[in-house]
Amino acid sequence: MRNRRAALAAIAGAASLALALTACGQDSEGGSKENTGSAEGGTIGIAMPTKSSERWIADGNNVVKDLRSKGYKTKLVYGEDDPDQQVSQIENLITQGVKALIVAAIDNKSLNNVLQQAKDANIPVIAYDRLILGTANVDYYASFDNTKVGELQATYIVDKLGLKDGKGPFNIELFAGSNDDNNTKYFFNGAMSVLKPYIDSKKLVVQSGQTGLTQVTTLRWDGATAQKRMDDILTKSYKSKKVDAVLSPYDGISIGILSALKSDDYGSKSKPLPVLTGQDAELASVKSIIAGQQTQTVYKDTRELAKIASNMVDAVLGGKKPETNDTTTYDNGSKVVPAYLLEPVNVDKTNYQQVLVDGGYYKESDLG
Ligand code: GAL
Repeated sequence: MRNRRAALAAIAGAASLALALTACGQDSEGGSKENTGSAEGGTIGIAMPTKSSERWIADGNNVVKDLRSKGYKTKLVYGEDDPDQQVSQIENLITQGVKALIVAAIDNKSLNNVLQQAKDANIPVIAYDRLILGTANVDYYASFDNTKVGELQATYIVDKLGLKDGKGPFNIELFAGSNDDNNTKYFFNGAMSVLKPYIDSKKLVVQSGQTGLTQVTTLRWDGATAQKRMDDILTKSYKSKKVDAVLSPYDGISIGILSALKSDDYGSKSKPLPVLTGQDAELASVKSIIAGQQTQTVYKDTRELAKIASNMVDAVLGGKKPETNDTTTYDNGSKVVPAYLLEPVNVDKTNYQQVLVDGGYYKESDLG
């Protein structure tokens, strides 16, 4: 792609370069406006799920930055967690003639029709972080090892409680993500593969009795929904008992759970907060971890994910095969989607500095 672009630029000369630079800077909703790309590669449509979570804002900005550095223009849209809105946004991107689509789905099954339109217009599609189900019109998948995310959260709980040293029994409650997000079951099943033996041997007791995935999901990963469920559980099942650990799949959910716990006096001397996991290393949660409230999060470097997705687009449009490292795991019901999976990293109070600050994800001053 880069060579082709270089050749094109040489032929087209200064006039077209000036034109391209003029076009650049008007293109991206939510992206930076500087002229970092020559736009010879065309415009790439990026559909993100919501601005209500800071990670997706970072994802969008990082993808824009990477694509621009490769010479593409970008059109970045956010669906406000409304599947219908996301469908019409993608329709618009197709109408506007984007050369490729990068999509983090809100509802993994609602995009089949619109992706058929993309296919008909010869627009390749990269599923970003969340796999799109039930359609062959997904070319590649860029994500993290989602099973490992759940394993990291659960292993952290097991280690912190000292279950391997025979300690227990302890009380635990389980939370999962949105039931329309394909990642949810991978996170939950990964976690349960570690927790289930302890639940079976009664070293971990789920006092609410809610252990099945359908009982513990949280629609649209909403913190307030999780807070309400935790409130209910504390009222019904913990009148005279204490919860020792809560499996939470995502920082926004963890913050909601934490509010419910604090309203019930957890965090006081007589009632220590339970071990509480999370995911995404969102700022509020990292601060909470430093303050000794949320206990753990799983860090996923969105800068790397953005790079993978941008490289995939660049390769496909350049007629090359993108790099993948998993061609077996992600069956979307229509085909196995070739994927590149990044490694998630366990973060708590002991290593946030090294991983997040030294790694350049946050500045020390962000966390103060
Ligand atoms: C998932 C994603 C998580 C988290 C969650 C809520 O799809 O993999 O990292 O961001 O959505 O936004």
